[in-house]
Amino acid sequence: MLRPDRIEQARAEAFGPAAPLRGSVRVPGDKSISHRALMLSAMASGTSRIEGLLEGSDVLATAAALRAMGAGIERGSDGAWVVDGVGTGSLLQPESALDMGNSGTSARLLMGLLASHPISATITGDASLSRRPMERVMGPLRRIGAEFSASPGGRLPLTMRGISPAAPLEHRMTVASAQVKSAILLAGLNIAGVTRVFEPVPTRDHSERMLKRFGADLRVEQEAGGEWISIRGEAELRAQNVRVPADPSSAAFLAVAALVVPGSELRIKGVGMNPRRTGLFTLLRAMGADIDFADARDQDGEPVADLVVRHSALKGVEVPPELIPSMIDEFPIFFVAAAFADGETRAEGLGELRVKESDRIAVMAEGLRAIGGRIEEHGDGVTIRGSGGEPLAGGAGIASHLDHRIAMSFAVAGLNCREAVEVDDMEPVSTSFPGFAELLLSLQEGGR
Ligand code: S3P
Repeated sequence: MLRPDRIEQARAEAFGPAAPLRGSVRVPGDKSISHRALMLSAMASGTSRIEGLLEGSDVLATAAALRAMGAGIERGSDGAWVVDGVGTGSLLQPESALDMGNSGTSARLLMGLLASHPISATITGDASLSRRPMERVMGPLRRIGAEFSASPGGRLPLTMRGISPAAPLEHRMTVASAQVKSAILLAGLNIAGVTRVFEPVPTRDHSERMLKRFGADLRVEQEAGGEWISIRGEAELRAQNVRVPADPSSAAFLAVAALVVPGSELRIKGVGMNPRRTGLFTLLRAMGADIDFADARDQDGEPVADLVVRHSALKGVEVPPELIPSMIDEFPIFFVAAAFADGETRAEGLGELRVKESDRIAVMAEGLRAIGGRIEEHGDGVTIRGSGGEPLAGGAGIASHLDHRIAMSFAVAGLNCREAVEVDDMEPVSTSFPGFAELLLSLQEGGR
């Protein structure tokens, strides 16, 4: 159910036939890396500086929670963020509930961090976050001695009591989730001894990369069927300067917009190219997309490059299952690309999409059908029959269900429809991509 204040704030917007998108552009900082940069800076001793932090409401929820537990976090006049860390194990008891808004990453990673501190906290979130499963993190964290009292179905709001000293944990992942892996590693920071996670399916490794950068003793060992990641606590983290790459998950919306709107050519600068995040670009290229990675370089432990994307005729594709984790957030916009491709696109094994900010399989299927796309759901898979590059009908209203990526996906779809598509609420886009709609408009030659 929507809360009354959310209904008042809902901001409907229409997206219609577009002129070519052209130019050189930067998208906001990576959401996953921004959360981690704040959390590790808050746990370090000394003052860290973060450039390019995503100033979206998800990341600001993490900042507010860390401030409520003692970290000093301010935005400097030059736009960089300055964090005075409390030192490992020194988070303070928050005085009131920690509101995580729409952000699953804030909720789950902070639950991990808190679990090995002797403090209690109540964690709340918006209607979307309050529908999402938390047992996947509570289960392993109970085994280090943390206690949880959650709402029915293991959901928010919940109250937790952390523990210190906590017992080191050895955990085998049962769901491919970087949030669960990261929650355990963050708990391990303040647990004496070695905390270990076994990951059969590789997921984004920003936590591992950044923990090493901040000086943690973290090891990754390959084993048949996956990898063990171990962290030795109690870790002493040292303050760092971090430059956050542009978010590939945000770049994805502009890239697909350029691919489907005839005559477009965009350069998207400084985009994170971590191989565990770039599945969408790999797949689009296999579909015939003209995407170049220019000026590839390393930036503070993460690979980045400029993406050069030109309008392309796309062909339908079978999604290789091993690519799914590296494009897990990109399926809504991938479905839009497939809806304009020539021929059939099929994907299976997408169950995790049902527990994101919305049920992204059902919500995308409903929305694509409403604008004239052809999509069938089968179990946790979909088949999409593309338009062969022809515009779709459009002319429909889309319910975005408090999901930023649904809202942005249909904004992009509208650019290649005969009649405008109205997205019921663009407000959630501010969680990850403030200024998205304005940017989309400014990239169209001559505007609308
Ligand atoms: C994230 C992990 C993914 C992803 C989310 C961000 C992270 O979630 O969907 O947007 O920063 O660790 P899961 O761990 O639930 O797959």
